[in-house]
Amino acid sequence: MFVLVNLKTYPCDPVAVAEAVRDVDESTDARLAVAPQATHLERVAETGAETWAQHVDSIDHGSNTGQTLAESVADAGAVGTLLNHSERRLKLADIDGAVQAAERAGLETVVCANNPAQIGAAAALGPDAVAVEPPELIGTGTPVSQADPDVVEDAVDAAQHVDRDVSVLCGAGISTGDDVVAAGDLGSEGVLLASGVAKADDPTAALEDLVEPL
Ligand code: G3P
Repeated sequence: MFVLVNLKTYPCDPVAVAEAVRDVDESTDARLAVAPQATHLERVAETGAETWAQHVDSIDHGSNTGQTLAESVADAGAVGTLLNHSERRLKLADIDGAVQAAERAGLETVVCANNPAQIGAAAALGPDAVAVEPPELIGTGTPVSQADPDVVEDAVDAAQHVDRDVSVLCGAGISTGDDVVAAGDLGSEGVLLASGVAKADDPTAALEDLVEPL
């Protein structure tokens, strides 16, 4: 299972969380990664934790102001990027352009979507993975696998209908190892989570709990 921890703009210490991600990753078969804010990418990558960007823009080098270039996050040490997170929604054409920009820079991609129909559209754009996250469950501590398991199964089904190999993650409300196991049982190959780790008093303990049953 892939466990991708999005730090959003939570007031946690990104380096401390990254060190916890690195250490727990070394003690489990699961793959752990962390997505800090863009300005923290370099410091986080220096810890040795697998580092992801939270977003890149559909741009190339040139006349762009206030945007995030895929090559720059790769230079900072990121190996992948989230796209179209529900807190950073993009138009379809911009998701397509951002997937291409990320691929140009050698970044792995996870395109987020609200529901199975959007997952089908996102998967057709050819990212490495898609992540289904019902926005109403984000930050609630109630996992999507429990509140609405059909959403995960239908998302897996929708992604399988495209003529590409696109893995499916699920997210929203995930905070325990049981939630991760339930996500896997529904066909998900990983989880995307934030508050369960970024707001934890002890991120290492939170991560250990997440991967313990795997
Ligand atoms: O990016 C992950 C996210 O939106 C889920 O947040 O706090 O419910 O784990 P959370």
